[in-house]
Amino acid sequence: MGSGETSGQKGARVAEHVAIIMDGNGRWATNRGWPRLVGHRRGAERVREIVQACPALGVRWLTVYAFSTENWKRSTEEVLGLMSIFARYIEREADKLAVGGVRLRFIGDRSRLDAKLQRLMAGIEARTAPFSTLNFTIAINYGGRDEITRAARALALDVAAGRLAPEAVTDAEFAARLDTGGLPDPDLVIRTSGETRTSNFLPWQAAYAEYEFTPTLWPDFSAGELAEILTRFGNRERRFGGVVLA
Ligand code: IPE
Ligand code: IPE
Ligand code: MG
Repeated sequence: MGSGETSGQKGARVAEHVAIIMDGNGRWATNRGWPRLVGHRRGAERVREIVQACPALGVRWLTVYAFSTENWKRSTEEVLGLMSIFARYIEREADKLAVGGVRLRFIGDRSRLDAKLQRLMAGIEARTAPFSTLNFTIAINYGGRDEITRAARALALDVAAGRLAPEAVTDAEFAARLDTGGLPDPDLVIRTSGETRTSNFLPWQAAYAEYEFTPTLWPDFSAGELAEILTRFGNRERRFGGVVLA
């Protein structure tokens, strides 16, 4: 459902594209006196469970925020630990994703990631490209402002090279140059851990998304809670700037 919608809609509906800011891993571990990386490992296990649950819940697109452009500010130990969790997730989950018909993609600026991780990312994207039961996207080294700036640069290059007239710069041309080009906009953005900010996640794409904030820390988030949130979403009225038709 795009932002071009002009009239409101009523009645229960399914959130086809759910985006999740997976927050609270560090606090989950610290609360137990454990290193933060233990929380990140537990968080990766939750990702596996949520991915499996999505198709039965009617979710066809799932996008999760795993590492932001700001997360490099963390300790070297935590950053390297997260990077190795990402690599291990890809290696361990590849077969399961393929069997489940899950297409995995990544958004964010990969150029700063290490070469081995970049190869794993490209490999799993190519391997799962034929699938569409669930379109699963992981945001790594992703920042909305960075993404918009890169898209603006790509547009400027096309205009400067004469491939695109300035008058032909439309929101569709812009969106096509975002990392999410080809993906639908999220219907619903969920953030765990009680924080009520968006932290630079999908600012363009989520312009009309509904937001749900839950105090649950990500390692405790379950398919059951996702199902409850989706039920609440189904009862919300989305207007897209229009009016609700009787
Ligand atoms: C989210 O959990 C995962 C990443 C940002 C990589 P945090 O690590 O932010 O956990 P808290 O917010 O410190 O509890
Ligand atoms: C947002 O969480 C980024 C991810 C979940 C990957 P952060 O924990 O990094 O965000 P802030 O610092 O609370 O805004
Ligand atoms: Mg956090």
